[in-house]
Amino acid sequence: MSVQDEIDKIGKCFLQDLEKVQDSSSLDQLRIQYLGKKGPIQGLMPSLKNCSKEERPLLGKLINELKVQVTSTLEEKKEALSFLEKNQRLSEEKVDVTLPGKKKFLGRPHPIQALMQEALEVLSSMGFDIQVGPDLESDYYNFEALNFPPDHPAREMQDTYYLTTDKLLRTHTSNVQVRIMEKNTPPIRVVAPGRCFRNETVSSRSYVFFHQIEGFYIDEGVSFADLLATMQEFWSRFFNQKIEIRSRPSYFPFVEPGMEIDVHCTNCKGRGCKICKQTGWLEVAGAGLIHPEVLKSGGIDPEKYSGYAWGMGIERLALLKYEISDIRRFTENDLRFLSQFP
Ligand code: DAH
Repeated sequence: MSVQDEIDKIGKCFLQDLEKVQDSSSLDQLRIQYLGKKGPIQGLMPSLKNCSKEERPLLGKLINELKVQVTSTLEEKKEALSFLEKNQRLSEEKVDVTLPGKKKFLGRPHPIQALMQEALEVLSSMGFDIQVGPDLESDYYNFEALNFPPDHPAREMQDTYYLTTDKLLRTHTSNVQVRIMEKNTPPIRVVAPGRCFRNETVSSRSYVFFHQIEGFYIDEGVSFADLLATMQEFWSRFFNQKIEIRSRPSYFPFVEPGMEIDVHCTNCKGRGCKICKQTGWLEVAGAGLIHPEVLKSGGIDPEKYSGYAWGMGIERLALLKYEISDIRRFTENDLRFLSQFP
C-alpha cells in the first residue's frame, strides 16, 4: 500500500472509531491510540525514508495535515461530550422543589424537668442554693440520721428498694439534709432536687420513681412563722398569683412539729372542683421544724440553731397543674402526650 493510501486509511479508521465513542474517557483512549508514540500516524514516519526525494515534502505535509485534522476533531468531540456530560450531571442533581420536605423535630425538656426547673428558678431567686445528693444512698443518710431508728414503723411509710442491707435507692430527697449540715455551718439555705424511688404498686397515682425538691433553712431563731411565710411566698410566685396556704398536723420523724401544706385550689379558687376533689385545697408539700436529733446528726447545736424543712413531689404538681389523671403518662415516652406541654 502506498503511503498516500495508508494516510487515507488511517483517516477513515479514525472517523469510524470516533463514531463509537460515547464518553470523555474513551475519547481520551482514542487520542492516545491515534496520536501516541506507538500510534499509526507516528508509525508512518519511517516509511517516509523509503520515498523519493520529490514525494517526501508532499507526503510529510499530508501526514502533518492528518495529525492536525485528528487533533482538532478530537478537540471538537471533547467539547461536545463534556457539554453533554455536564447537562446529564445537572439534570441528575436537580432538586425537585415540589417534593414534600422531611419534618425535623426539635428536642425539648421533659415536662417534669421543665416544671422542676421553674420551681428551682423561683427558689434560687428567694436565696436558696441548689445542691444535689446521690440516688444511691446509705441507710444512714436516708433513714437513721433523719431520726428513723432501725425497725421503727415509720420506715414502712416508704417502701424501700434495698441493694444490700446498707445501700438503698433513696426514698426521698430528705437524704440531702444531713449531708449538707455536715459540711456547712448555719445559716444554711438549700434546695435539693432529685429522683426518688419506692417499691410501690404502679397505678394512676403512684410510680416506682418520681421527683422531689427538698428545701431547708437553718439559722438562729428560725421559727414556724418563717416556714409559713416562705411557703406563702414560694407558692404565690410559682403559680403567679397570690396564693393562700394552710397547714395541717402530720407526722414525719425528722420534723417536730410536722405538717402537710395545702394551697388554695388554683383551678376553682377554693370553691370546690374535680381537681381538689371538692375540698377547695390542694396538698402540695410535707414540712416542719427540723427535729433536734437531726440537727445533732448533722453536727449542728440544737440549743443554738433551729430550722425548717419541706419536701414536695414534682409529679404531683404536674398532675395538678396540667389536670392529668394518670402519672404513668410521664414515663410512657409518647410524643403525642409529651409535646403538648409549653
Ligand atoms: N421526705 C418526705 C417524703 O418523702 C417529705 C417531707 C416531709 C420532707 C416533711 C420534709 C418535711 O422536709 O419536713 O414523704
